[in-house]
Amino acid sequence: CGIVGYIGLPEKTAEHNALDVLLEGLRRLEYRGYDSAGVATVSGGVVESRKKAGKLANLVAEIETSPVAPATVGIGHTRWATHGGPTDQNAHPHLGDGGRLAVIHNGIIENFAELKERLLAEGCVFESQTDTEVAAQLIGRHFADDAAGDLTEAMRLACQELEGAFTLLAVHVDQPDRVVAARRNSPLVVGLGEGENFLGSDVSGFIDFTREAVELEQDQIVTITHDDVAIIGFDGTPAEGKRFTVDWDAAAAEKGGFDTFMEKEINEQPKAVEDTLLGRTDAEGRLALDELRIDPEELKDVQKIIVLACGTAAYAGTVAKYAIEHWCRIPVEVELAHEFRYRDPIIDETTLVVSISQSGETMDTLMAVRYAKEQGARTLSICNTNGATIPRESDAVLYLHAGPEIAVASTKAFLAMIAAAYLLGLYLAQLRGQLFQGQITDILADLHKIPAKIQEILDNSEQIKQLARDMADTPSVLFLGRHVGYPVAMEGALKLKELAYIHAEGFAAGELKHGPIALIDEGQPVFVVVPSPRGRDSLHSKVVSNIQEVRARGAKTITVAESGDEAVKEFSEAVFHVPETQPLLMPLLTTVPLQIFACALASEKGYDVDQPRNLAKSVTVE
Ligand code: G6P
Repeated sequence: CGIVGYIGLPEKTAEHNALDVLLEGLRRLEYRGYDSAGVATVSGGVVESRKKAGKLANLVAEIETSPVAPATVGIGHTRWATHGGPTDQNAHPHLGDGGRLAVIHNGIIENFAELKERLLAEGCVFESQTDTEVAAQLIGRHFADDAAGDLTEAMRLACQELEGAFTLLAVHVDQPDRVVAARRNSPLVVGLGEGENFLGSDVSGFIDFTREAVELEQDQIVTITHDDVAIIGFDGTPAEGKRFTVDWDAAAAEKGGFDTFMEKEINEQPKAVEDTLLGRTDAEGRLALDELRIDPEELKDVQKIIVLACGTAAYAGTVAKYAIEHWCRIPVEVELAHEFRYRDPIIDETTLVVSISQSGETMDTLMAVRYAKEQGARTLSICNTNGATIPRESDAVLYLHAGPEIAVASTKAFLAMIAAAYLLGLYLAQLRGQLFQGQITDILADLHKIPAKIQEILDNSEQIKQLARDMADTPSVLFLGRHVGYPVAMEGALKLKELAYIHAEGFAAGELKHGPIALIDEGQPVFVVVPSPRGRDSLHSKVVSNIQEVRARGAKTITVAESGDEAVKEFSEAVFHVPETQPLLMPLLTTVPLQIFACALASEKGYDVDQPRNLAKSVTVE
């Protein structure tokens, strides 16, 4: 879910009406969930609440038919449904204290059923099935009762009773000069303005108004007024937040001439990879990951690496495994973060746990990182979002610097994650003396040539777009790859599922004969990510054989191969060539045609590629 809060001054209302600020923030946060949206403002002693199922546009239309009076204070929410379906009623805000209090929430309140039972017994009447309404009623009870009309205290008392993960924002008619927010395991940042202050799930919630922000810790409550930000712990002790300045502006989060964020972000990939690689070497050309904030000595004795991630980030992790094992001779396991802590993994202080997450807020990944820390592992976060929870809680961090990624399905962050993983691998190899400095310099030089090569693919993408348009009605597509092409095939399939809602599966090409080949039928489209003919151990010829095997059974084969690889031509309906690079670095190139394909096919079907159905960019529930 996405949340925003705003408090300004009456004399500023003409310029910054709370409703406009909230809607602008929600527009930018909509990628976090779009099952429903809602706002509440306080003016003239009443809470004005509007909420609507579906995308933000539905809420805007609702407000047009039923306008809201100008206000200086309010909260807004865009929902990714967990408890209760995506209906108008279940949309946030929810009201408490006889309609005088409005609350929005991100996360899951685990003990909501027992709290609800208690509140029902005390005479509360509920209008929705959400856990949020339970929180609203609970805060309302405390406000009227033991908090004696103090919203911060009511929030604090309620938080002591709530279990689970939550960010809560509340406004009350009796204290119209403030917004009170609480945070436990769910994202929240404060934006600092002049004569006004902001709250957001992340900085994009207020980036149009300020780039000055404050990070909060877990289990804290923040009260913002127009000229003050006061933070306390759930136990009541005052606390200080950490100030930071956002290093990108509102323009970076706009579409910049493209029809969709997805197209913009696919086209930004040369820059994203370049920015990830930027400034990582010292005057002698040695890798210097200054940002890492861990003593290099601590990385020297690492015996095992475990990569934890979800979705696209997990496929970047698989590429990392191939590269790091090859360069550093350290065993690397890759695991979906949500599976990790439930299988009693073997970790100790010689284990380095590398989490990969664009948002840095994915709850499954966060929980896995915490578990690894508890078990004594060292933790390193590869992340795109400055100041997010996972990098903050990790011992070390390598930021991607890929700029904001707005489209829900990941593209540029995927390539940036792979580039960052290569940097990490090379850095470890350098520290541990596993590669000669000359080898590292050569690989780095090839990495720096990648952005121009991605650009070449982008400049010649019409053929793949046409193929996507021609294939718009296809019910199923398979993807095959081997070695580093295997995670690329998985990612190609994931993009097609996410964007075009087409059944798609990725397989390791070698696995084909052990089962998936039974799926091949006349006309079945199969994408094959072909390894470099210059790669190791005749992998190339094995994959060429796989292509022939599926073709012999009627498949329509589409290959992504290195330029100059003529061997695949005669077995392919279409070949997409990518420029040459070292075999291990190929995912930075072979992924791009698959992204373009998925995006073009989904657009042809008329789907919203930026906000695919049922998904959210940052899944902050487990
Ligand atoms: C969600 C998104 C995916 C993304 C995954 C991991 O499921 O829909 O596109 O790959 O989360 O996100 P992260 O922010 O941790 O990289």
